Amino acid sequence: MQAPNHVAIIMDGNGRWAKSKGFPRTVGHAKGAQNLEDMLYIADELGIKYLTVYAFSTENWKRSEDEVMALMNLFRQYLRNGFKKAARNNVRIRVIGYRPGLPQDLQELADEIEEFSKDNTGLQFTIALNYGSRDELIRMMQSAAREVAAGNLKPEEIDEEYVSSHLDTKDLPDPDLLIRTSGEQRVSNYLLWQLAYTEFYYTDVHWPVFGKAELQKAIEWYNTRDRRYGNAK
Ligand code: IPE
Ligand code: IPE
Ligand code: MG
Repeated sequence: MQAPNHVAIIMDGNGRWAKSKGFPRTVGHAKGAQNLEDMLYIADELGIKYLTVYAFSTENWKRSEDEVMALMNLFRQYLRNGFKKAARNNVRIRVIGYRPGLPQDLQELADEIEEFSKDNTGLQFTIALNYGSRDELIRMMQSAAREVAAGNLKPEEIDEEYVSSHLDTKDLPDPDLLIRTSGEQRVSNYLLWQLAYTEFYYTDVHWPVFGKAELQKAIEWYNTRDRRYGNAK
């Protein structure tokens, strides 16, 4: 069985998992974050080279203040400890999304962990924080327009290659497999440009309990697909 080179995950269902156990939503987020830390080692073990996860969208600010605060605290905790530990184990970490929109200390933690892990050659792990694909595309378009206005870029130079290399994901290949947990079948503003030829896998399993066996199932399914473009075999 061949592992996809790049797996993207929409980690959904923390709240529903918590509710099903009679816990508050924040307990679901804590368990989901722990699951993500475990998933870094599992993905690496299964031969995945790039793992890119959606942790907080540009729309998620609309949730209650308490929930947003609990999520920011988890990101702090994991950028300082859990992901840092992975970085000491050769995992390279990148943070995508609109960084200036994050609390100042989180921006610094993101800068710091990227710098700390920049020479690591193991799993290439990317976490999307305050990420929205439309926001990412708008930022890219505005910057290209500024370059054109300044006379540094010709409009016809804005091609596929230019766009791909000016998005937050410029250092990553396009995803081969997208997994969304917890039953929804929408993209929720995730990697719209990058997913052009990605295979989509959905499962009803909630993110906090999406483990190794579930990831293996997704990879098995991926291996049954007959891919045309992207990284077609
Ligand atoms: C995903 O779980 C985590 C984030 C979006 C931060 P949800 O919080 O969306 O869980 P559900 O969808 O309400 O179950
Ligand atoms: C998508 O999940 C965002 C993340 C997993 C971070 P949501 O739960 O926020 O998406 P919707 O609201 O169901 O589209
Ligand atoms: Mg959700």
